[in-house]
Amino acid sequence: AFDVQIASSGKRYTVGAKETVIQVLAANGIDVLTSCEQGVCGTCITRVLEGECDHRDMYFTDDEKAKNDQFTPCCSRAKSALLVLDL
Ligand code: FES
Repeated sequence: AFDVQIASSGKRYTVGAKETVIQVLAANGIDVLTSCEQGVCGTCITRVLEGECDHRDMYFTDDEKAKNDQFTPCCSRAKSALLVLDL
């Protein structure tokens, strides 16, 4: 599990092993637009301000993934204990 923090509110939520970031955000009233929910379309792209992404998508290039400044919360996760999202 890892935590996500919402930059605008400072609120922190835990993402368990069997749930996605999108599911946790939605359960807390934070809606991020999604479409494919499989890391293909890029609709859900969200900026990451802190933490290390665990990219699971097929949308970004390797260079974009290495920049670690955005991720696809429908399927991607965190390698660090916390990701701070620009939401
Ligand atoms: Fe398509 Fe996340 S909804 S990449």
